Amino acid sequence: MVKMDGSVETVLWVILLLQASAADATWWYISQVSLSHYGNSIRSNRRPLHPLVICGDIPGLIGRQRKLCRNNPNVMLSLREGALIGINECQWQFRHSKWNCSTLEKDSSVFGKLMLKVGSQEAAFVYAIQSAGAVYGITKACSTGQLPQCACDDTKRPPSKSRDRKGIFTWGGCSDNVKFGIDFTKRFVDSKEKITRDGRALMNLHNNRAGRKAVQKSMKLECKCHGVSGACTIRTCWYTMKPFRDVGNYLRQKYNGAIQVMVNQAGTKLIVAQRTFKKATRRDMVYFESSPNYCIYDPTTGSLGTAGRECNRTSKGTNGCELMCCGRGYNTVNVRKVFKCECKFQWCCFVNCQWCEKRVDIHTCNGPNPTKPPHSMFHRNRYFRQTS
Ligand SMILES: *[C@@H]1O[C@H](CO)[C@@H](O)[C@H](O)[C@H]1NC(C)=O
Ligand SMILES: *[C@@H]1O[C@H](CO)[C@@H](O)[C@H](O)[C@H]1NC(C)=O
Repeated sequence: MVKMDGSVETVLWVILLLQASAADATWWYISQVSLSHYGNSIRSNRRPLHPLVICGDIPGLIGRQRKLCRNNPNVMLSLREGALIGINECQWQFRHSKWNCSTLEKDSSVFGKLMLKVGSQEAAFVYAIQSAGAVYGITKACSTGQLPQCACDDTKRPPSKSRDRKGIFTWGGCSDNVKFGIDFTKRFVDSKEKITRDGRALMNLHNNRAGRKAVQKSMKLECKCHGVSGACTIRTCWYTMKPFRDVGNYLRQKYNGAIQVMVNQAGTKLIVAQRTFKKATRRDMVYFESSPNYCIYDPTTGSLGTAGRECNRTSKGTNGCELMCCGRGYNTVNVRKVFKCECKFQWCCFVNCQWCEKRVDIHTCNGPNPTKPPHSMFHRNRYFRQTS
């Protein structure tokens, strides 16, 4: 056996650790990179951000991604914003579900290793919403003039005056340059999947594209009226993306109707798992495996479990205590809730509200070994008003 010198051993260990973390890392980690230690150079044109810094902080980027990162540090900042928008929307969409899209601190896999290991419906959603968030973040940065690489999109503007149901309008304003956002996101995000080319990579590529398409689909015509006393004789119109909530709602529907697929014999294509199912379109989400049970805390997979989650006693949905707590029962506490009420509009322009108080029952899921009785038998809902 070869005896290793201590420092060589350390170096080898570091290399091994880096490789291990890189395998479980995704570009999503850019959302977790703190910008505070970069100081004022962020968003300041005078002292541009040193491109190597932010690119070096994201583990698991492949060569092509690092190069794009180094050459476009400002786009990376919008990509970071987009990743945060995606996470925020994911958590909102799944706030009532067992899996609630939470992110893990200091974990390069961001949503837990489960998302990378198991090709579940949730993984499909995460890839799609993060890709959509990236397109959205970059496109908004283009429109607000933060990126010299892109500006408003003029290509959708017809040569002269256009006509729609409401009459003639002229083009103006700034159409969101979704094309730049889509192209950059595709180049950056998809490049990692193109080096593996296994079944899971095909799944990720499909869902990444579904995310980009969802933003593209959300483009709408927005117009502003001009003319004497609001007569609207002239309108200026432009294309803009709908709020990201619309994209989130749309992708949530696609998640509900996600299509289970498998890889064909040659390993080159995804085909529907059951012949009676409809074929997946480019807008559909695809997945391989049924979802794991998100009931129990499991640090090895990153499943947080549902112990301590709030549930609704009467709901039959995923937020109902029965489903949410996986049959473990729940604990009920009666708490005081203060809120604004009886708001009256006063001329002009105040809204006067009273403070009201009500007692509400909050139900939270028991852990795997319940120590408390399943739930209290009595619940009180008293309303009373206080003058403020
Ligand atoms: C998700 O649920 C876990 C408990 O299972 C909780 O700790 C976490 O704060 C929740 N995350 C979000 C984003 O609501
Ligand atoms: C609980 O669910 C019921 C039925 O879905 C709904 O009417 C009620 O508003 C929910 N309660 C809370 C506190 O969300």
